[in-house]
Amino acid sequence: MSYGLLRGKKGIITGALDERSIAWQVARRAAEEGASVVMTNAPVALRLGQPRQLAEKLGAPLIPADLTQVSDIEKLYEETLKHFGGPVDFLLHSIGMSPNVRKEKAYPDIDYDFYIKTLDVSAISFHKMLKIGRDKGALAKGGSIVALSYIAAQRVFPAYGDMSDAKALLESIARMFGYFLGKELGVRINIVSQSPTPTTAGTGIRGFQTMYDYADQMSPLGNASAEACADFIIALFSDLTRSVTMQTLYHDGGFSMMGIAPQLLSGNG
Ligand SMILES: NC(=O)c1ccc[n+]([C@@H]2O[C@H](COP(=O)([O-])OP(=O)(O)OC[C@H]3O[C@@H](n4cnc5c(N)ncnc54)[C@H](O)[C@@H]3O)[C@@H](O)[C@H]2O)c1
Repeated sequence: MSYGLLRGKKGIITGALDERSIAWQVARRAAEEGASVVMTNAPVALRLGQPRQLAEKLGAPLIPADLTQVSDIEKLYEETLKHFGGPVDFLLHSIGMSPNVRKEKAYPDIDYDFYIKTLDVSAISFHKMLKIGRDKGALAKGGSIVALSYIAAQRVFPAYGDMSDAKALLESIARMFGYFLGKELGVRINIVSQSPTPTTAGTGIRGFQTMYDYADQMSPLGNASAEACADFIIALFSDLTRSVTMQTLYHDGGFSMMGIAPQLLSGNG
């Protein structure tokens, strides 16, 4: 169902790898709601071919950019400004990666070069996108920016490893830049903290299925799907949420407010 919530708006969507990606669901819903989008992903991901197929489905330009690289981000904004003929109304940061998690290095034993990579890809890339977008005049007044996080930024989920630190940094960047861009441009920045979701990034975490099942049983509404997450993000991109900023908003079926789920205690599922 379309409500025309983003009619006439323009935005950048990062991180749509395949149809399971949260970013793909957001891009699809944004187009349904009347927006025009530019999509971007890392050059290595583009070689897999799927991001291009997704962009073609929407008739959206796909601009390769490694979002840890300042020169790639500059090019992304330059091409986007040229394509739209002006700045963007919304931006989705939907990328993350930890070489330590991929290689199943436990948190006390992480490799420090990998750690820097985790923080750069998963958090500092957001700072770079905000700073360069601001410097290039690519962020429209009154726009809305969203990045994705996970509750391991606040609570301990041992298998989430150094991604927990990256998400804590990401959430801080959203608050800090939320102040500066709010004052300067009336741009709002929010974090959506999402349930475990069966995507490529999600299922790369050791014991994902167990975490997924546990969260599903803990949450009175069950785990939130990628499609529901996209609906929530569309609402945040729309003018209906124009006074919400600098928040970490839990989109998790109620998980973050739970203490005990009786069915887990009884083992009855
Ligand atoms: N899946 C979950 O359980 C879950 C839960 C909460 C939050 N999140 C967050 O949601 C976001 C989207 O992840 P997803 O679950 O849709 O998985 P996904 O694997 O579909 O998307 C991750 C994307 O990051 C991109 N990426 C990685 N390194 C990059 C780089 N250097 N430059 C540009 N792009 C790069 C990948 O190509 C991919 O498209 C991430 O921030 C993730 O941490 C996921």
